Amino acid sequence: MDLDTAAWLASTHGRAALATATTHDDRAHDRAAAGDATAIDPLRAATALRKADPSLDPTQAAAVLTQVRLRRRARPRLGDIVEHLLLTEDGAEQATRTEVAKLRARRFVESGATRVADLGCGLGLDSIAFAQAGLSVSAVERDHVTAALARANADALGLSHLLDVTTGDVVADLELLNATLARTDAAFVDPARRDPKARTDGRSVRMTDPRSWSPPWSWVEELAIKVPQLAAKVAPGVPHELTPPAGCATWSSVDGTLVEAEIGWAAMNPGHIRRRAVVIRGTDTHIVESAHDLVDEVAPPTASVGSWLLEPDDAIIRSGLVGDLVASVAGWLLDARVAYVSTDVEPQTPLAAIFRVREALPFTIRALRDTLVADGIGHVVVKKRAISADPDNVRKELALKPSRTSAVVILTRIGDDPWAFVCDPS
Ligand SMILES: C[S@@+](CC[C@H](N)C(=O)[O-])C[C@H]1O[C@@H](n2cnc3c(N)ncnc32)[C@H](O)[C@@H]1O
Repeated sequence: MDLDTAAWLASTHGRAALATATTHDDRAHDRAAAGDATAIDPLRAATALRKADPSLDPTQAAAVLTQVRLRRRARPRLGDIVEHLLLTEDGAEQATRTEVAKLRARRFVESGATRVADLGCGLGLDSIAFAQAGLSVSAVERDHVTAALARANADALGLSHLLDVTTGDVVADLELLNATLARTDAAFVDPARRDPKARTDGRSVRMTDPRSWSPPWSWVEELAIKVPQLAAKVAPGVPHELTPPAGCATWSSVDGTLVEAEIGWAAMNPGHIRRRAVVIRGTDTHIVESAHDLVDEVAPPTASVGSWLLEPDDAIIRSGLVGDLVASVAGWLLDARVAYVSTDVEPQTPLAAIFRVREALPFTIRALRDTLVADGIGHVVVKKRAISADPDNVRKELALKPSRTSAVVILTRIGDDPWAFVCDPS
C-alpha cells in the first residue's frame, strides 16, 4: 500500500466503501456457511463493490477488499476493535492482542506513568490500549504507511486527543527520540521481530536473535538508562536472564496459546514481582506471580501418577511457576524436569488442561495398543512432552479400529523411561 491509498482509506469515502464491502463480505460468508460453495469469490466481491460505488478506481477497490480480508483474518486475535482499524498484513501479524495490551496498559498506570512513549508503534494496538487507559501517548513509527494507518486508527477510535503518532526512526534520529522522551515519563518498545524482506508462505520470517530485532535489544537496554520506567514486549521464548535487576518478566497466554512475554524494568515493578504468568481464557484473566527468581524456586515434590494429570498452560511453564500450580492442586510432578502435574484430588484450576487418568503403562506401541483395544478406544489425541515420539506417527502406528470411544494419550519420560497415560478427554 502507498501513502495515497492509506490516506484515501482513512477518508470518509474510503471508510464508506469499506463499510459497503464489509456488508457484502458478511453476506457472502453467511451464504457460504449455509452451504453455497460459490459465495466467497474475490471477483464477484470486486464487481459488487464497483457496482455499489462506480466512482472507485481499481486500486481503491483492491485496497478496500484487502482491508476486508485482513480484518476478517485479524478478528479472532484482535476482536471487535478490528471494525475500526486499517491494517497491513505485517502490522496485523505483529499487533498485540487487545486483552494483553489492556493488561499492559494497566501495569503502566499502576507504575504511576501518565505519559508513555510507544517507540515503534506499528498499527498502534498498544498505543490504543494506553490511550484507552487514560494515558497520553507519544507514538513513533518509522514506516510511513504504518504510521499513517496508526494515526487513522487512533482517529477512528476517538483517541487522537490522547494519542499522537510521529513518523520517524527512533534509533537513527536521536533528536526525535530525545524530543519524544522529553514529553513522556515512561516508554514502551515492541521491537519488530520479523524480517519484512524474507518471506515463507507469503508471511515475513521471525527473527529469534534479539540482536536482529528492530530496535535491537542492546538499544532497548541502553534506553532503560534514560527511561527507568520502561517495558518491552519480547518473544515468549526469552531466557529469564534477560530480566533486569529488580525488574519483572510477564508471560501471557490467550486461550491456551502463549502469545508474548514482556520485560519490565525496576521502575515498572512497584510490587517487586520477578515473574508473572497471565492466563487469559475467554473473558477471564488469571494472574500468578512470584517475588523470587527462578533459580531460587523450591523444587516441587515428585511421585508416580495419581488419579489426575495436568498439562500446565505454557505461560505457567515459561514463567517457571509450575510449583505454584502444583501447590494449588495439592499435587506433585511425575518427573522433576518435566511439566506434568498429578494429583488425587479432582483439580479445579484454569491454569492447566486437566485429564482423568484411566491407565498408566511403560510405553511401547504394542502395550499401548493392547490397552486401548481392551478399553474399546477407537480414537486418540496424542500429547507428549520430553519424549521424541511423533504424535502423528504414534496414532498411525496404533492403527486403531474406529469406535465411538476416544481418549487422550499422554506420552512422557519419567527418569529415563518412556511412559504412556491413557486419559479421559478433559
Ligand atoms: C512489533 S511492531 C509493533 C506492534 C505494536 N505494538 C502493536 O501492537 O500494534 C514493531 C514496529 O516497530 C517499527 N520499528 C522498527 N524499528 C523502528 C525504529 N528504529 N524506529 C521506529 N519504528 C521502528 C516497525 O516498523 C514496526 O511497525
